[in-house]
Amino acid sequence: MERREQRGETSPAARAGIDERLAERWAAVDGYLAERLAPGEAALTAALEASAAAGLPAADVSPVQGALLELLARLCGARAILEIGTLAGYSTIWLARALPPDGCLVTLEADPRHAAVARDNLARAGLSAVVDVVEGPALETLPRLSGPFDLVFIDADKESTADYLALALERSRPGTLIVADNVVRGGALADAGSEDPRVVGMRRLVEAVAAEPRLVATGLQTVGVKGWDGMVLALVV
Ligand code: SAH
Ligand code: DHB
Ligand code: MG
Repeated sequence: MERREQRGETSPAARAGIDERLAERWAAVDGYLAERLAPGEAALTAALEASAAAGLPAADVSPVQGALLELLARLCGARAILEIGTLAGYSTIWLARALPPDGCLVTLEADPRHAAVARDNLARAGLSAVVDVVEGPALETLPRLSGPFDLVFIDADKESTADYLALALERSRPGTLIVADNVVRGGALADAGSEDPRVVGMRRLVEAVAAEPRLVATGLQTVGVKGWDGMVLALVV
């Protein structure tokens, strides 16, 4: 059972009006794939356990999504990675696995409690030397970074995603990959009249990507343990 369900919260699938049996199949396939293709290492499981023990929300990417992030970082030969939204550092660890020994990852986190848990988790994963957890609201900390970054993973407050895209673009070079998480929101992305600020934020992101001639992009819907969601992937050309 998922952590949020153990705490008596409704599952993402139920909230999106998705049949629970279908959601169970999505989760079963995710589990099958993750067990074989995204086993990761002990530090990843330990990070999730420490996060739950500290009462942090279970908003980490899923194991197969984490493996996708590592794959993408390896595909772009990333040496410098920027992450916006650290939480417990679970996605951070997946991304950092792709880095060469002299690579670096900067991850931005507004909540000091989340940053503290993430620092512990990254230390346990042996990644303290390559990862810098920068505390503070990303709209304040990101403008201080110079870049250029080879890969940017945007996964913080959904309302600001388009602003993060603009700031990321200024710290990019041709070949930089920008990935945004939680774009589809149980299908709400297609609701032009949605008043959910996170949906409005993600529609703003898609419009901004569409209007940016420097980006070649797509949107990818995903189903699995996190219900129905998706990512936008945009390559700077
Ligand atoms: N990337 C993580 C999940 C991030 S959850 C993973 O997949 O493992 C989103 C995180 O963004 C939360 O920890 C939240 O505290 C943080 N956040 C929210 N608003 C923010 C802001 N304005 N600046 C930086 N971080 C923010
Ligand atoms: C939430 C945030 C995320 O980044 C995510 O992947 C899932 C959920 C959230 O804020 O609820
Ligand atoms: Mg996310």
